[in-house]
Amino acid sequence: MTSETSQLPRSFVLIKPDAVRRGLAGAVLARYEAKGLRIVALEQRLVDGELADQHYAEHVERDFYPPLRTFITSGPSIAVVLEGDEVIETVRLLNGATDGRKAAPGTIRGDYSLSNRENLVHGSDSPESAAREIALWFPELPTA
Ligand code: RTP
Ligand code: MG
Repeated sequence: MTSETSQLPRSFVLIKPDAVRRGLAGAVLARYEAKGLRIVALEQRLVDGELADQHYAEHVERDFYPPLRTFITSGPSIAVVLEGDEVIETVRLLNGATDGRKAAPGTIRGDYSLSNRENLVHGSDSPESAAREIALWFPELPTA
């Protein structure tokens, strides 16, 4: 054992403006914590258009992006970095399917969302996305 630095993977989660507006941020965070994931960083942020475009770089040309941009900049969000075994897959399982109307009951979206856009949470979809998103949102955070 030469280092005490954690080797656990990390994921980026955004608790979106609908969740914050509805007072569900605590309930959402509690699910990740109860599962055993650890909060590494957390900050409330009012996302501007530039950050939205960077975060959703893969979607900026899509038809659904203009209303998504309006939504994601509509009020404060809470940016979170989580750490734990298989955290990327685990967060996406807890989040549920993108469309809240179709997401399974027991998931965050399945329990609290009735929308394909206002679906409460974002979770990184790969290690590469997680690294990019964590560097974008928390540039000062030391890497694991
Ligand atoms: P996320 O990135 O937020 O974790 O969600 P996801 O991977 O499940 O979904 P993704 O395809 O990456 O879409 C990003 C976000 O865009 C909104 N969206 N609207 N057809 C539509 O109106 C539509 N499709 C997607 C959602 O807010 C989705 O989470
Ligand atoms: Mg996505």
